Amino acid sequence: QEGDAAAGEAVFKKCTACHNVADAKHKVGPSLQGVVGRQPGVAEGFRYSKAMTDFGADKVWDDAQLAAYLENPRGVVKGTRMAFAGLKDPKEIADVIAYLKTFPAP
Ligand code: HEM
Repeated sequence: QEGDAAAGEAVFKKCTACHNVADAKHKVGPSLQGVVGRQPGVAEGFRYSKAMTDFGADKVWDDAQLAAYLENPRGVVKGTRMAFAGLKDPKEIADVIAYLKTFPAP
């Protein structure tokens, strides 16, 4: 089921301590501008964990991959530096992915 981008904007408040999305500026985490459809671990100028770049070698952040990661970041990318427990509500996950899609790569 497609998420609701407007609802996802509120969910994204759980991410803003570490992520920008409206521009390419990195914080503790990489900018998420253009992340949907991108290979994991390749935002220019961000130092990822080896865990993330190894994970990303043969993948793209499509809906399914993002949903799995956001539900259980450290379970899906073992060794990730993203210190976030994850989102437990599938609707919040779908909504935040829909929100991320409204910020494509420039
Ligand atoms: C990485 C999403 C919350 C810190 C990532 C990536 C995504 C993501 C998609 C991979 C980016 C890429 O491959 O370029 C989210 C979302 C969040 C969230 C949607 C909220 C629901 C947080 C929080 C923190 C954080 C709260 C800090 C406490 C990081 C870090 C990385 C990362 C450091 C890089 C991980 C690594 O290199 O292993 N995040 N994140 N994130 N995030 Fe988050």
